[in-house]
Amino acid sequence: MNKLRNVMIVVGLASLLGISPVFAGGQQEIKKPAAAKKAEQVVLTNNVPKGDLEIFSWWAGDEGPALQALIDVFKAKYPKVNVINATVTGGSGVNAKAVLKTRMLGGDPPESFQVHAGQELIGTWVTAERMLDLTPLFDREGWFDLFPKDLLNLLGTDKGIWSVPVNIHRSNVMWYIPANLKKWGIEVPKTWDEFLTVAPKLQAKGIVPLSLATTWTVNHLWESVALGVLGADDYDALWDGDIAWTDPRVVKVWSTFNEVLKYTNADAASLSWQQATDMVVHGQAAFNIMGDWAAGYMSTTLKLKPGTEFGWAPSPDANASFIFLADSFGIPKGCMNPDAAVAWLSTCGSKEGSDAFNPLKGSISPRKDTDLSLYNVYSQSAAADFQNDRIVGSLTHGVVANEGFMNDFSTVMEMFLSGRDAQKAANACQAIAIQNGMTK
Ligand code: GAL
Repeated sequence: MNKLRNVMIVVGLASLLGISPVFAGGQQEIKKPAAAKKAEQVVLTNNVPKGDLEIFSWWAGDEGPALQALIDVFKAKYPKVNVINATVTGGSGVNAKAVLKTRMLGGDPPESFQVHAGQELIGTWVTAERMLDLTPLFDREGWFDLFPKDLLNLLGTDKGIWSVPVNIHRSNVMWYIPANLKKWGIEVPKTWDEFLTVAPKLQAKGIVPLSLATTWTVNHLWESVALGVLGADDYDALWDGDIAWTDPRVVKVWSTFNEVLKYTNADAASLSWQQATDMVVHGQAAFNIMGDWAAGYMSTTLKLKPGTEFGWAPSPDANASFIFLADSFGIPKGCMNPDAAVAWLSTCGSKEGSDAFNPLKGSISPRKDTDLSLYNVYSQSAAADFQNDRIVGSLTHGVVANEGFMNDFSTVMEMFLSGRDAQKAANACQAIAIQNGMTK
């Protein structure tokens, strides 16, 4: 997990070079508010929280049950608060983040919003001085001892600590249905080479080897291919600026990715991530690579039993590496009801809240004192892997790159999908890495 230090190095470098990594490549640039004071701290009061509390996230529809369980814990404790569960549909926050940006820039922030630990938080909202420092709350709740140190490093800077983590998700998981693999006479591929060997056989049977959905899931698949092709050290080095995007090792990521894409469904762009999971569940596809919110979807929504009715394996060539991400909630400056927002955050970080939320979500609790007996066999295995594996950060879910880079990366991906030119994609990535302050 110490490799996650890279994230902090990237921030440091960007500021050393005088480059603002904040949405530099995005459509709308976020600047510091004119009168921004540094490190405005949250104020803890003894007031009984009441009034409206708008919680902004992308956990709508099938993604909603875990958040609802957390809100229920909150409501039981703070009955005077009127919770407005403001969700904007769209996996990985593709739509929600755009709406949030407009609201933040328009001076209409919600009381609290979902944001990924790492660069999405630090390199975006914290750099723009839009967040309240939560140090007094972390002190009061004892969270500096209860959350892992490396996770705290992704939530904090030398000026403060900026959000409260609610979970730990794994991005690089390959999902399948054991009975289907048995029926088709195939094993789970452990390497990308094995995948590329078995894929034509599946295709010959009319089965999609790897189901895929809308653009962000293509980026999501890319990071698992990148980890497999590069290995954890080089994967980290890429975010650290120690390997150029034009390096042959990185060009190979794109060419391998191109091979893998040949075995995905043609209608991917029109599908949600849940629909890509459904293709596996219904036997139209053999595998899907998705974060372990897919375990939450299959067990909580589809009521499938982990281990027997659905199976999982690390993405090919992962070699005991775990691509990590964490959802968190922070309080923006200008929040209209800070007492209620503080109460919400204190619920988010509590043992009770965490253990109500995570078993439904498919994630594990970020708290060191979680009760693992509440979790299913998938999550118990993820918790064990999180302890034992090499931990690296997710690109698609905000850990290793700021939103400027992410937005630009999506554009590069669209270009790649139409031209399939690995070298061109690598060159374009080098340009956007420079533009977004991510190179040395
Ligand atoms: C991720 C988020 C997960 C899940 C997923 C699909 O970015 O961290 O909690 O919501 O998107 O929407």
